[in-house]
Amino acid sequence: MVTHCRFEKNRQQPSRTPQPRACQVASAEADQHAALEILNAAEKHPQVAAALKKYQASLDPKKPLLPYLVALKGGDKKRGRALFRSHPAAQCSRCHTTSKNHDAAMAGPNLYGVAERGDRLFLLESLVAPNAKIAEGFGTVSAMPPMGLLLKKHEIRDLVEYLTTLN
Ligand code: HEC
Repeated sequence: MVTHCRFEKNRQQPSRTPQPRACQVASAEADQHAALEILNAAEKHPQVAAALKKYQASLDPKKPLLPYLVALKGGDKKRGRALFRSHPAAQCSRCHTTSKNHDAAMAGPNLYGVAERGDRLFLLESLVAPNAKIAEGFGTVSAMPPMGLLLKKHEIRDLVEYLTTLN
């Protein structure tokens, strides 16, 4: 990361991009957290957007997780919690509780401790491809709607972040 930033500073022709941004984008560590921002920025360039569309269309439909990998890291857990509680279409809290001692039956599993049941990839998959792995005791077809249809990628990213705090 430091190397990239020094490289930016030492360039003969100073870049027009504001310095901190260039450093951030160039850093491999930031890539993971800023993947969605990078994608959104790229989509503003018509040629890049066209190439991206082509690339996205070429993705294997049997791997529904691929287009959402940009939502794996870098979300905001507070926004995620608010979405969980009150997003009008996603309605997580209609089917799920997150409190330890809640034993009334609900349509979906209690998400208390869900962060210990799997990693971020598992959490992301639970949201966008609910049928990939069905929670024990919930049949063979998930009753949960695939959230990619109801939420924006940045919302899914915030939810993943929130779900990692449920341990
Ligand atoms: C209509 C009911 C319903 C809604 C709405 C719903 N879910 Fe689910 N969810 C389920 C059911 C049923 C399962 C168990 C089957 C499965 O694993 O997909 C589940 C599973 C999950 C799992 C995996 C749990 C585990 O232990 O494997 C997570 C995480 C999850 N939901 C999060 C969410 C979030 C976040 C939202 C809102 C964005 C949401 N759900 C909205 C019904 C729902």
